[in-house]
Amino acid sequence: MRIDIITVLPELLESPFSHSIMKRAQAKGLLEVCIHQLRDYTPYKHGQVDDYQFGGGAGMVMMPEPLSIAIEKLKAERSYNEIIYMTPDGETLNQKTANQLSLKENLIIICGHYKGIDERIREQFVTREISIGDYVLSGGELAAAVLVDAIGRLIPGVLNNETSALSDSFQDNLLAPPVYTRPAEWKGKKVPDVLLCGDPKKIDDWRHEMSVKRTQERRPDLMKNDSAE
Ligand code: 6GU
Repeated sequence: MRIDIITVLPELLESPFSHSIMKRAQAKGLLEVCIHQLRDYTPYKHGQVDDYQFGGGAGMVMMPEPLSIAIEKLKAERSYNEIIYMTPDGETLNQKTANQLSLKENLIIICGHYKGIDERIREQFVTREISIGDYVLSGGELAAAVLVDAIGRLIPGVLNNETSALSDSFQDNLLAPPVYTRPAEWKGKKVPDVLLCGDPKKIDDWRHEMSVKRTQERRPDLMKNDSAE
């Protein structure tokens, strides 16, 4: 999978993809993340990419022409499955969306800044608008990093243990069960006996039971929808 990210702050996106699982995904050739500085595409002087909004009001708007030039250049090189705009007024990201997007070949992600991008770019190019939750960030970069991480780890072969994504919270609309490691007793607190019993069926049953309990207590809403499909 190839992901092209268009941003005015490429520095913000360097670290998230340079470590751990995202680094391994790229080293294995399963994921390619290409970050583009929008200012490199602007036809205007001094790298200008934003301007005052028509109608007045505080805050700048990202101009259509630099974005259009950047997107058209990428589209001339390969075909894209989705052109995603990160925006707080988009659909809220969930595991179902991450699963869908992990099956795609080529994605463009546009990071908004200031008051956002000119509406005509949304109409002309954007196929999907995604938010990462009901709060406002200073720009789309951190949201894009979240999205790429959520997608990237689902690409087959990225995780060491192939079953590990399947047992994540949300993958089956259930939160993950509690987990323990050594020592078996710590500050007087013992690991549940069942985890030490060596019977895989009993352990699986216990984990499922704890997942259901935890989901009912913390996120009863998850048990009523299909967000993991
Ligand atoms: Cl995608 N962008 C911004 N600026 N803020 C957000 C967001 C995105 N998702 C939640 N808050």
